[in-house]
Amino acid sequence: MSGRLGRSTTAVHGVLHRRADWSPVAPPLIQSSTFINPVGSDEPVLYAGDGNTPTQLAVAKKYAALEGAEDAVFVSSGMAATALAHLAVLRPGDHLVASRWIYGGTKRFFDEELSRLGIEVTYASPDEHRLWRKSVRKQTRALFVETPTNPLVRVVDLAPIAKLAHEYGVALLVDGTFASPINFRPLEHGADVVITSATKYLNGHSDVIAGAVGGSASFVEEVSRLMRLWGQAVDPFAAWLVDRGMRTLAVRMERHNTNGLAVARWAATQKWIAKAHYPGLESHPDHEVAARSLDGFGGMIGLELAGGVAAAERFLARLRIVTHAPSLAGVESLVSEPRITSHSHFTAEERAALGFPDGFVRLSCGIEDAEDIIGDLEQAGASR
Ligand SMILES: Cc1ncc(COP(=O)(O)O)c(C=O)c1O
Repeated sequence: MSGRLGRSTTAVHGVLHRRADWSPVAPPLIQSSTFINPVGSDEPVLYAGDGNTPTQLAVAKKYAALEGAEDAVFVSSGMAATALAHLAVLRPGDHLVASRWIYGGTKRFFDEELSRLGIEVTYASPDEHRLWRKSVRKQTRALFVETPTNPLVRVVDLAPIAKLAHEYGVALLVDGTFASPINFRPLEHGADVVITSATKYLNGHSDVIAGAVGGSASFVEEVSRLMRLWGQAVDPFAAWLVDRGMRTLAVRMERHNTNGLAVARWAATQKWIAKAHYPGLESHPDHEVAARSLDGFGGMIGLELAGGVAAAERFLARLRIVTHAPSLAGVESLVSEPRITSHSHFTAEERAALGFPDGFVRLSCGIEDAEDIIGDLEQAGASR
């Protein structure tokens, strides 16, 4: 872990040389949308809509260093990052093989938007290795995986999928939002492109919508071109808030990791919780993959309540510290029901088939004291 933190120190806090006297310790926020242009210059203009102003570039550089990417770009949301990364690699007539275990918004983008552009998508479960190979066609240009997954916190072994991608010369795109680059860096495991919702752990304070894409310089240049044309640049203030969040990312992740493990271990012993899904538990189907590939199991837990929707609603209504709200990965613990948030466009049967039947709640452990989170969950669940 110390090696990782060392890397995070230089990536996030920057310089290995002594800073100049009187320079600011905190990175400056340069909120200007436009910059004075030298008359007669044919250099690119500086414009926040082009994503090339100092605060926007500074945060991208730090994120690229954390992921081990050649370059990165910040955009207006995690969904913008997902959309632009896919549009950068796919053209009408192309084909994508995507994991079946993905965030509902991503699934909708594939089903409703890629299909409109004449791009076909085949879904495969990450544990069906043969199906991935069988799904690759002459028109396949990319494979997409989310890991750890929303909301079941499944952890995908990227090695066989990266091998397949490289064998067929197609790009592997990975959404690593649930891990943050402190716990998992997809590019180290064979991915070509990493996507993150910076709204989540990178920012960590539930006060920003932003996203980022990392990869080769040429890929990031193409994403940046699309970002400009589709108007998806990140606002400089949002970029600055993410930068500020990233300065505490490593210590926040340590706390999310210890809280996640403590809460999951406790949840696994509760009778009113039919099942606790957390990759740090030995009972989790991906525990072995998670233990060898992640630097921490994270703060996300799936809780299947005995008693379905009625039990979930009773439980949610009684919580005091843990807040019932969509989104995740902030300093405050949040809980939500995928059936009405992240996966509301799936039918109840589809959700059940994917492993999260109605009555399933997704818990994002914040950085409060673990015993306070557990105490709150206990009083809300035990009073049934
Ligand atoms: C795994 C994952 N990817 C992408 C997104 C989209 O992020 P945003 O809300 O920043 O658009 C989410 C949102 O919950 C997510 O959970």
